[in-house]
Amino acid sequence: MSETLENLLQENRQFPPPDALAASANVTAAAYDEAAADRLGFWETQARRLTWATPWESVLDWSNPPFAKWFVGGKLNVAYNCLDRHIEAGRGSKVAIHWEGEPGDTRTITYGDLHRAVCQAANALTDLGVAAGDRVAIYMPMIPEAAVAMLACARIGATHSVVFGGFSVDALAGRIQDASAKVVITADGGYRRGKPSGLKPIVDEAVAQCPTIERVLVVRRTGQDVAWSDKDLWWHETVEQASPEHVAQPFDAEHPLFILYTSGTTAKPKGILHTTGGYLTQVSYTYHAVFDLKPDTDVYWCTADIGWVTGHSYIVYGPLSNGATQIMYEGTPDTPHRGRFWEIVEKYRATIVYTAPTLIRTMMKWGEDIPAKFDLSSLRLLGSVGEPINPEAWMWYRKHIGRDACPIVDTWWQTETGGIMISPLPGVTATKPGSAMTPLPGISADVVDDQGQSVPNGGGGYLVLREPWPSMLRTIWGDDQRFIETYWSRFEGMYFAGDGAKRDNDGHLWLLGRVDDVMLVSGHNISTTEVESALVSHPSVAEAAVVGATDPTTGQAIVAFTIPRGHVDSEGEAGEALIAELRNHVAKTLGPIAKPRQIMLVAELPKTRSGKIMRRLLRDVAENRSLGDVTTLQDSTVMDLIASGMKTGKDED
Ligand code: WT7
Repeated sequence: MSETLENLLQENRQFPPPDALAASANVTAAAYDEAAADRLGFWETQARRLTWATPWESVLDWSNPPFAKWFVGGKLNVAYNCLDRHIEAGRGSKVAIHWEGEPGDTRTITYGDLHRAVCQAANALTDLGVAAGDRVAIYMPMIPEAAVAMLACARIGATHSVVFGGFSVDALAGRIQDASAKVVITADGGYRRGKPSGLKPIVDEAVAQCPTIERVLVVRRTGQDVAWSDKDLWWHETVEQASPEHVAQPFDAEHPLFILYTSGTTAKPKGILHTTGGYLTQVSYTYHAVFDLKPDTDVYWCTADIGWVTGHSYIVYGPLSNGATQIMYEGTPDTPHRGRFWEIVEKYRATIVYTAPTLIRTMMKWGEDIPAKFDLSSLRLLGSVGEPINPEAWMWYRKHIGRDACPIVDTWWQTETGGIMISPLPGVTATKPGSAMTPLPGISADVVDDQGQSVPNGGGGYLVLREPWPSMLRTIWGDDQRFIETYWSRFEGMYFAGDGAKRDNDGHLWLLGRVDDVMLVSGHNISTTEVESALVSHPSVAEAAVVGATDPTTGQAIVAFTIPRGHVDSEGEAGEALIAELRNHVAKTLGPIAKPRQIMLVAELPKTRSGKIMRRLLRDVAENRSLGDVTTLQDSTVMDLIASGMKTGKDED
């Protein structure tokens, strides 16, 4: 049987864990054996890391696939597990959040403070008529109240639906309507690139289209003028006046915890539903295992927004259930200067940073002299999520941020999986730059061909999950049929994630991007990721996006959009020489089949708001123009084209 996806990129570097980290790691290699011997028993052990009001009767009910029930009959309260139990253990004065506003204002919030705020918000929401099972929309900047709002919902059993604060009126209204939310929690605005940026006006317009909304709760963050209606209530006049006494009631392990919308393609966004016991078990365990958190000494920072699943699982529920101290930052990485992130690491002595490849590539483009100005010696572990990380970006991250001393955990997962699925264990795994390595203990991932057969080592294909996992999505909100069709119909009895992957000669996994992006060139299935990584491995390239464009001879041809490091005049001789060199470099690295037909030097790439490259738009650019004789393109020309497409583009995430 032929390979489903070519395996072109060879990578031979490997980095064992630092001895000291390995010697004191939270999780050792024994976890893989335990989980292999008894997968469900392993997850029961992890569930016991939490406090349950009522123990479960059976660990998994998989009698009606793909509808799973985990920890059947068990009851617990998520907010209790994130807050009360730490306070009961005498840790109420431990810092939960070091918050840094974009303008430089700061707040230090202990577990005691957070508990008090969450209890007040739980009481206020209850007074507003929000009961267990009701839906609450949250549309917030990165301020502590965003986490408070989520935890208050969890505390009273209301299902939250966080909508990223950069989304439009239509996106917000559509999500409110789909979930029939009763209340929206928002703020007047937040700080973005040095200026207050309004949120309330967007909520006002959305609410006008959403009859289910009874109340709008507004945090005052920027103090900007806002319109006011009789549905609106200030947070400081309600929540902050409410009683701080609140006894958390336990909820069923399968009680809906949150809905988070993901669009992926241009279709109607899917409301991914996560429930209580299995979700918290897996995010809590994976946070402990993958980030090796030592609650007494670590200072953790995840740079994601709370509007993405990364913010849900690895800012709110994973870290807080483990009693972590973390940094939360409101703004952008270049405000007021391009060293802001590293300044924050230095200021709070961060030990663990979890960020996205897009951020790392941006930092590469800005240059290593920027992080070099800051003391990053507190860092001991680095993480990556959201896209495949190119080997050179991985090496740059390791060297210029991690001083060659920190393991990097490249964590593969999705909104749908709820928690991390494939990742190194930092005290166990000898990592390879660009590989997510192996499924975590208790997770069974595989790479299969068109027929659903496992590919051998050295082969490429589709990434699937063969067994249910605790934090799996339970359905698409209101659309069980779409849940079955989208995720469980391509391969019998398997969850298909939509990603391509390969298994190298040692059996390690390499994510190759969405299978929709795979290019078919002269009968070869080539992943855009591998060509992009080959381009980024050239010292003159900071970032690259590759698409397949229709070609009369080869079916599809490879077209690359490349951001050079430093300025290169794409029209001039230097530009032409670089393009020729890059085409040859790719051919040399991956083989002649992968040589791009065209390379364009650009200043920016179109990205979704969560930082993923929008290849669909680039494909339009690559196909709609007669690019035959144009080997270079003015930045602005490409970007104008891309920008005009982006305005009409959906809010893909
Ligand atoms: C898709 C899921 C997971 C939280 C943030 C994104 C891509 C994610 C990796 C990684 C290669 C990755 C996949 C996946 N992806 N992490 N480490 N290596 N690709 O959540 O928006 O639901 O996106 O992001 O394509 O399917 P999401």
